[in-house]
Amino acid sequence: MTRKTGDRLNSRRLLILGGTGFIGRHLVAGAVRRGWKVTVPTRRRERAKALTVLPTLELVEADVHAPGVLEGLVAGCDAVVNLVGVLHSRPAAPGAAYGPAYARAHVDLPARLAAACGGAGVRRLVQMSALGAAADAPSEYLRSRAAGEAAARAVKGLAVTVFRPSVVFGPEDRFLNLFAGLSSLLPVLVVACPDARLQPVYVGDVVEALLDALEQPTGNGGTIDLCGPEVWRLDALVRRVCRMKRRWRLVIGLPDGLSWLMAFLLEFTPGPVMTRDNYRSLKAEGTSDAPFPYGIRPCRIEDTAPAWLDRG
Ligand SMILES: NC(=O)c1ccc[n+]([C@@H]2O[C@H](COP(=O)([O-])OP(=O)(O)OC[C@H]3O[C@@H](n4cnc5c(N)ncnc54)[C@H](OP(=O)(O)O)[C@@H]3O)[C@@H](O)[C@H]2O)c1
Repeated sequence: MTRKTGDRLNSRRLLILGGTGFIGRHLVAGAVRRGWKVTVPTRRRERAKALTVLPTLELVEADVHAPGVLEGLVAGCDAVVNLVGVLHSRPAAPGAAYGPAYARAHVDLPARLAAACGGAGVRRLVQMSALGAAADAPSEYLRSRAAGEAAARAVKGLAVTVFRPSVVFGPEDRFLNLFAGLSSLLPVLVVACPDARLQPVYVGDVVEALLDALEQPTGNGGTIDLCGPEVWRLDALVRRVCRMKRRWRLVIGLPDGLSWLMAFLLEFTPGPVMTRDNYRSLKAEGTSDAPFPYGIRPCRIEDTAPAWLDRG
């Protein structure tokens, strides 16, 4: 997809991979508000139709893994944001470092995207990763995210900013809304890894940080943790969600062995809510002391969640 140079005179062009997802939908709206012309590729245009009401948005059906597609998409762009990520993968094959879905979405795609940006003279790439990403992290998910960060940074002359958010909450999230939904169905909530420590961050704050990063002078944009102002134990958070929903529910935290067993059993369900690799991710430190960037004051769960938490 080659663009006319005349288009570029009107406004800055931003390509957002993963722009149809939870964070992506908020980011796309924010970018349009800030005057960007935004292109969002999707595998299924039908499912993302709601985005097309935005005035300066172009939604294109494309397979970003197919040869030549990224090169066409980045041509003429001033900046690119990559939000593509997957929570689950089949386990790694013998000799492979990561499961196939992690390798494809978290490592190969950022590598190919950065190379395409370098080739097209795009100056800025924002790569979404996850808190705790590290080459020696306990899970394939987190190790593959670290490999993707390194791959994105491997292209000379491309300014890359990597963001590592904790779990993100906000309207239509699959985190607080999941617990709120379960609390409407079940009298007892069983929580795996109840002592996992998390620092949930509001999607609106994540979006502001990403958009601010795009405005910074180019150069190495660094690696930036994005965490909210409060540290929560997972079981305390589930109890808090129940209270916000005004539902008295028994919340039972499983001991470690049973947490692993629950993750193992859930792995065999379609669209699992948890896998053994997720269990291992929850073993990594889920908090950070790093200040929130660009002078943004991140908000607490109580500040926003009561307004949008699943009403089921
Ligand atoms: N949400 C959180 O709590 C959280 C926390 C830490 C990090 N992150 C990271 O932030 C990013 C965005 O998260 P999110 O919650 O918005 O994710 P999401 O709702 O699952 O959206 C992911 C997006 O990526 C695209 N996508 C997924 N798999 C793909 C694949 N194999 N090939 C091409 N495109 C694919 C999907 O687009 P189509 O289906 O339209 O093609 C979708 O728009 C991800 O990298 C995620 O890992 C999220």
